[in-house]
Amino acid sequence: MESFDQGIARSEFPELERVLPNGKRVVYLDNAATSLMPVQVAEFLKDFYLTHKANVHRGSHFLSNEATDMYEQSRQVVARFINADAEEIAFVKNATEALNIAAFGLKRVGFENVLLSIMEHHSNIVPWQLHGFALHYVGLKGFELNLSTFDELLEKIEEMSMNDKGVVAITHVSNVLGVINPVEKLFARAKRKGFVTVLDCAQSAPHLKLDVKSLKADIIAFSGHKMLGPSVGVLYCNKKLDLQPLLGGGSMIKLVTKNKSEWNDKPLRFEAGTPPIAEAIALSKAIEFLKNIGLQNIHKHDKELTKHAIDSLSSIKGLNLLLSKNNYSSIVSFELQSKLNIHAHDVAEFLSSKGICIRAGHHCAMPLHEYLKIPATARASFYFYNNVEDVNALTQALKQCVKFFKH
Ligand SMILES: Cc1ncc(COP(=O)(O)O)c(C=O)c1O
Repeated sequence: MESFDQGIARSEFPELERVLPNGKRVVYLDNAATSLMPVQVAEFLKDFYLTHKANVHRGSHFLSNEATDMYEQSRQVVARFINADAEEIAFVKNATEALNIAAFGLKRVGFENVLLSIMEHHSNIVPWQLHGFALHYVGLKGFELNLSTFDELLEKIEEMSMNDKGVVAITHVSNVLGVINPVEKLFARAKRKGFVTVLDCAQSAPHLKLDVKSLKADIIAFSGHKMLGPSVGVLYCNKKLDLQPLLGGGSMIKLVTKNKSEWNDKPLRFEAGTPPIAEAIALSKAIEFLKNIGLQNIHKHDKELTKHAIDSLSSIKGLNLLLSKNNYSSIVSFELQSKLNIHAHDVAEFLSSKGICIRAGHHCAMPLHEYLKIPATARASFYFYNNVEDVNALTQALKQCVKFFKH
């Protein structure tokens, strides 16, 4: 495995070169919320809007044909990125929309029960609630999924379900705990029992090499903006799965009469109306960038940096880390409230004054925070352009923060 030149990689992100009025440099540690964008992706977007803007799948002129070709080529790039076929990839607004399509589409074909984990993002909870699913939650053992409860719940749902086998919908990587869930094993067990499997890859697609075949996921959701791209989402839907569309309108139909319509084939049936065209094409540029660095290199780098963060943050007295020390990717959450009575929002604000960007709050995972009986956490999340100096700046600023609030 070749390594990558981190200095060169960093130089592609001008946002990191910003110096604040107080002289502090930007230390961007909020990558789980959204990543930065490299020059070549931003330049592609500018060029597309200035010289190639046209609608797709509608035109009979060359600009529209060109845009359509670029859009469809991007679909191929995204498909190869996760070892899927192009017909299995739909461009949507974001991971949230993809998960809403999954919940709605499965409910329409009769599914009633969903097995979720307590560490899910609201995007993988609320859609199932919205569409009236019976919800079954797997809890935690330490800061990891409780695997024995998972098996028990599969059996319980199997016994309960009259007509369907149910859905398992979990996150690949927790956006709070950073833990990587053993989805290959879990989904293999679920599929043996006939469950449909849905995987939220919002936090894994930017960091881990994904292969839909070995993951055994029927549906996958992720967001381009967390992986160097603009705001566009991806819905992977296994071609064998019958999934009904959520949104109706242009492009998603084959035939419309006054009283009913016939859906287009997948994936166009999930792309009602004019899609985020430039954004979908730019995602392939972001993927090219990631592939040049190498997903394995990215994972290795992020893991090493996270390990360094765990080691250095552990030295701060009263700071409570919320993570599994053997199983993490690129996210470190912590709190200073229980022992030092410093709220996560105060921590984030203090760090911000030093140029350090982290996130504080419930991170759209209120059920997890309730389960852990912690109202709010602070979260630092890393990417391949972060370095040891960034982590050291975080540790030093946190030490200053503790002093500031305790004196
Ligand atoms: C695990 C997880 N799932 C889903 C989402 C939703 O992503 P988006 O807001 O891009 O739809 C996020 C966003 O932070 C996330 O972390």
